[in-house]
Amino acid sequence: MTKNNRGDIKAVRHLVSLSDLSARQIEEVFRIARDMKAHPDRYRSCLRGKTVAMIFQKPSTRTRVSFETGIYQMGGSSLYLAPNDLQLGRGETIADTARVLSRYVNAIVARVFAQDDVAEMARSGSVPVINGLSDRSHPCQAVADYFTLLEKKKRLPGLKLAYVGDGNNVANSLIEGAAKLGVNISVACPEGYEPDPEVLGSARRAARKTHSKIEIVRKPSEAVRGADAVYTDAWTSMGQEAEEQKRRLVFREYQVSASLFGRAKRSAVFMHCLPAHRGEEVSADVMDSSASIVFDQAENRIYTQKAILYLLLLQPDSAVA
Ligand code: CP
Ligand code: NVA
Repeated sequence: MTKNNRGDIKAVRHLVSLSDLSARQIEEVFRIARDMKAHPDRYRSCLRGKTVAMIFQKPSTRTRVSFETGIYQMGGSSLYLAPNDLQLGRGETIADTARVLSRYVNAIVARVFAQDDVAEMARSGSVPVINGLSDRSHPCQAVADYFTLLEKKKRLPGLKLAYVGDGNNVANSLIEGAAKLGVNISVACPEGYEPDPEVLGSARRAARKTHSKIEIVRKPSEAVRGADAVYTDAWTSMGQEAEEQKRRLVFREYQVSASLFGRAKRSAVFMHCLPAHRGEEVSADVMDSSASIVFDQAENRIYTQKAILYLLLLQPDSAVA
């Protein structure tokens, strides 16, 4: 339960990080997403009369287009709000922006820099807030990724996911999801580029229940050994452009090349949240191989995000952990 700024008690829940959802709720998102994928017509008008504000402080292809299209497919409307479209860019606070938008719209999707900004929107507003990527996490991506892995492998508990590269927002959310879903995750990253320590701590606590193994190693070959899926992401995330040259050097041993990928299981799949940089974090042959499921991941963003909206906006009671 959350108390909004008018003092009402409301059963509003948010998706600020993947730890906001219980394993049961993630499975419920998968169930709804599967139904939406098979029977989109059943959900054609479920968001009729509802509007979602989309505050994007960073660029986006997949998140923006999949949310906007998904909302449209469910009969709702979306409002794309770029940095210069809001008074936020001229100093209005995050809290006031969230309070005002809550008087107009039914939900807010926000892509921001600081994790605290999206958390503050959730605290201050009175409508569900969904994190469309922050410097610390990318929960919508991880939900779509595990949905895709489940489609391909028919199960999740006990699978090994190797993540090679920067311990960034995507890595953090994959770790949170792995802990909840019983997936074993091995992250290979250079020293100083580890996933967020708080995320690791809480994921390790959650993993006690699911017996998921979470490990951080230095050698990509160690992470990839016996893996069912090998995942990587950009070496330089949005907002880190000034470090690009340095990062190219730091991560040069962390490319998912054909020879590295060959150390995973023969049946392994290659995953990437996209956008990809062929010749950097992944070689073109792996990216474009038959083992690559990156475009299935991208497609599944739309079904899983429609399911997240459905759960938060239309079934708020079952969305309460
Ligand atoms: N994977 C992902 O979130 O892509 P966009 O930055 O294009 O939204
Ligand atoms: N880690 C990347 C993910 C892009 C979807 C970034 O934050 O830029």
